[in-house]
Amino acid sequence: MSGPNKQYDPVQVSALAPEAVDAAVAAALEAFAAASDLSELKDARLAHQGEKSPLALANREIGALPPSAKAEAGKRVGAARARVGQALAQRQSELEADRDARILAEETIDVTLPTPYRTLGARHPLSLMIERVQDIFTGMGWEIAEGPEIEAEWYNFDALNLAPDHPARQMQDTFFVDPPKAGLVLRTHTSPVQVRTLLQRDASGLRRELPVYVAVPGRVFRTDELDATHTPVFHQVEGLAVDRGLTMAHLKGTLDHLAAALFGEGTVTRLRPSYFPFTEPSAEMDFLCFACHGEATAAATCRTCGGTRWIEWGGCGMVNHAVLRAAGVDPQEYSGFAFGMGLERAIMLRHGVADMHDIVEGDVRFSAQFGMGL
Ligand code: DAH
Repeated sequence: MSGPNKQYDPVQVSALAPEAVDAAVAAALEAFAAASDLSELKDARLAHQGEKSPLALANREIGALPPSAKAEAGKRVGAARARVGQALAQRQSELEADRDARILAEETIDVTLPTPYRTLGARHPLSLMIERVQDIFTGMGWEIAEGPEIEAEWYNFDALNLAPDHPARQMQDTFFVDPPKAGLVLRTHTSPVQVRTLLQRDASGLRRELPVYVAVPGRVFRTDELDATHTPVFHQVEGLAVDRGLTMAHLKGTLDHLAAALFGEGTVTRLRPSYFPFTEPSAEMDFLCFACHGEATAAATCRTCGGTRWIEWGGCGMVNHAVLRAAGVDPQEYSGFAFGMGLERAIMLRHGVADMHDIVEGDVRFSAQFGMGL
């Protein structure tokens, strides 16, 4: 019996010959050096270091050598592979550095280049006015409330002491909502929120507690044609205070504070007797012209008040007992004052806007003049 076959086929292991190994290393180094980017380097790596590369083949063939030859061939192939690996790593980091430098250069942004000019939007002076009014009232510790714009006739008229045949119901030009028997209108004023607030119940059905101090800015509707001083959709702010012992003096003090906060220190109000079904006594409220401080003597001397010295702004009064009763409040124990005034009018006066069209049209060039107040 012959022993184990220690013969090997010199043809098969020619890959292990020093010249072959050196040639493989030289070819690898040359290919790596020739790679001009990372993708070419990847191809070169597969060809010279991959499973089918000459050095991988040589490595596999070490196993076929007789033990005596293995160590030497192993050393040679190992050194060659290390050399190739090192050259690859070096070229890899060179090409990565090139790529990074190129990306940095390509993605450079010139922050000094001019950009296309874009105008910013602007908040509408009405939004600014509503927020200003809210700030003034919350600053006095009042609540801000709101109510629906499509309102029950009962809240808009009846609960405010305007019975169906009351002539004052004709004072306001109402948009009625179809069908007529639904009893719905587009609210003609913010006053219905007075009654809504007083009748409000919390989640457990309990009536809200008195006192109540509430301001209600909101949109209202009347069948007016749009012209320089009218618009069918406009805004009011309503005020309602119900407490023990309230008098006209509290009303006057509140209005003076509101006028001064909106139109400037020293703007005081005056009350003129008037009539509203929901207040008794009732008054029209004027404020002293903030432009001439009430000093104009003729139309030509003040453009804001036209020489009248006082500017009409809204209605007010002590809440009619009938309204308190409709809202379930005992007039023997509590009294209240209320007021309502137009916000478009406040803007027109405060900013000298002559034409209502400017306020309703929504042209940003108009809004932009009121600053970017937040
Ligand atoms: N609601 C009235 C209107 O729109 C304004 C008004 C007058 C409101 C007197 C009030 C008030 O609260 O007491 O014309």
